[in-house]
Amino acid sequence: MHIIFPFDSDISYQQRKEAMIQEPHLIWLTGLSGSGKSTLALRLERYFFIQGYKVFMLDGDNVRNGLCKDLGFSEDDRKENLRRVGEVSKLMLDAGLAVICSFISPCGEDRMAIKEIVGEKRFIEVYVNCTLEVCEERDVKGLYAKARKGLIPNFTGVSAPYDAPAFPDIEVNTAEETVEESVNKIIEYVEPVMILQREHISYSI
Ligand code: ADX
Repeated sequence: MHIIFPFDSDISYQQRKEAMIQEPHLIWLTGLSGSGKSTLALRLERYFFIQGYKVFMLDGDNVRNGLCKDLGFSEDDRKENLRRVGEVSKLMLDAGLAVICSFISPCGEDRMAIKEIVGEKRFIEVYVNCTLEVCEERDVKGLYAKARKGLIPNFTGVSAPYDAPAFPDIEVNTAEETVEESVNKIIEYVEPVMILQREHISYSI
């Protein structure tokens, strides 16, 4: 007979945080396609890695090639895509890692569901604001042109809605700021909360 034991690790979350010397957070970048999420995510990942933080990045383009390759861009599929990313992020956070996610995540309700999954205190919502006009002008992947021709259904901003966060923790405006300015704005908020405070260190390992 196959017996499933309840999962109960001997290593506590506190011990994992101490081993990683950081307070794990999920930095969630939301914004239109072409708003600059991936550029910022890469820069943030490199910055935190160089500073010695243990960090890992997830984005729509890599997750959708594997974990979520069975999903498309209907409202339900996006919800499921983001739910899976939320669950994976939770596991990474529980392991002690900091996570940077870069997903359009157009629906506020789906973003709030992720906040619930990982826990409110570990979730940092970053609104990568950029006008549709500028994103469309950039059209880095040529997808807006295709969407305008009707070749890509449910394209966010063209034929599917983007529900901007009303109260993000951080807002950057990539149409007006340089990459450095936006990255610095995020770092100024995130770095202080990622530092494991001395009083929280119990040296219990
Ligand atoms: S989300 O809505 O579920 O959060 P996600 O961030 O994973 O989207 O994927 C977005 C990427 O998929 C875009 O950057 C773009 O390259 C590609 N893509 C393909 N079809 C669409 C579409 N209909 N709407 C938006 N992005 C699309």
